[in-house]
Amino acid sequence: MNPTLYWKDHALYLLDQRLLPHQLDYLRCGTWQEVARSIEEMVVRGAPAIGVAAAFGVALAALPDGGPGDVTGRVAEAIEGIGRARPTARNLFWALERMRHLSERESGNDHLAALLLEEAHRMLKEDIEVNRRIGENGQELIPDPARVLTHCNAGALATAGFGTALGVIRAAVLRGKRIEVLAGETRPLFQGARITSWELSQEGIPVTVIPDNAVGFLMSRGEVDVVVVGADRIAANGDTANKIGTYSIAVLARIHRIPFYVAAPTSTIDVTISSGSGIHIEERRGEEVAICGGTRIVPRGVRVRNPAFDVTPEEYLSAIITERGVIRPPLSEGIRGLALA
Ligand code: MRU
Repeated sequence: MNPTLYWKDHALYLLDQRLLPHQLDYLRCGTWQEVARSIEEMVVRGAPAIGVAAAFGVALAALPDGGPGDVTGRVAEAIEGIGRARPTARNLFWALERMRHLSERESGNDHLAALLLEEAHRMLKEDIEVNRRIGENGQELIPDPARVLTHCNAGALATAGFGTALGVIRAAVLRGKRIEVLAGETRPLFQGARITSWELSQEGIPVTVIPDNAVGFLMSRGEVDVVVVGADRIAANGDTANKIGTYSIAVLARIHRIPFYVAAPTSTIDVTISSGSGIHIEERRGEEVAICGGTRIVPRGVRVRNPAFDVTPEEYLSAIITERGVIRPPLSEGIRGLALA
């Protein structure tokens, strides 16, 4: 599997996910500004992956050639600047806070740059381990055989490796379960059609891409057994922000009595926000909707909306699968039990 990101010779290399599946190219980021731009422009995307990339961005700022000013100033500036790249994914801010904490604790230490880089490497490694545990915990919920619907890409490429929702699917396959994946194409940037299908087909996991608007039809025909999606931010009550379209899938799943699972690391849970109405939902450029495959499909001058995420109210979730176990309703109690800071 091609890694989402790696560090080499004082630079962060990101698999350019905008080019998949046609081109497999790594973009070199030698400054924190390049990392911030790559997050904003979705060279790297997916909540855990942008968190890890952000951590390396902060480490870049701390290197001796990381720019003008003293190291503490450069690190603070990087944390601030990378934090403006995308607003919704909790993991971005979780990772930046972790780096801030370390830089404050070790302020004045001559080895601060090395310590920050070590921390970024630790976060990369931890993320893969966390995803493997999510997979193990989640696979128990997947029947055998199962037709599993997922949305967007919550796979290895949305994380440092293995994936959250796709981690659950991978773990089920590793257990010998007969899994068929249905991947919603995920308008407007097609993470499902381009990335999820690429990731799964590389490993020989059967995957069928469907238009986002085919979900209700397939559910009504009994062709979906279970839904597993990722998350960008989960509020203290369990309300979950994820890729736009997730909410509609959850409502349809409820009507058709299909289990709807969210797979996410506890670093995606934001206990400072009591409910989904407090989650900042990113609105991206209308061009992403108006121009498809290089062709303008919406007449010039017509207004376009492009919310990147939606919020699924907690009552539609059958469970949240985390590395620390499966949280069942009432979700707010289960989340409180995790005692997250
Ligand atoms: O806009 P994206 O591609 O960054 O959105 C990604 C998602 O919505 C994922 O489902 C989410 O980040 C979870 S990734 C493990």
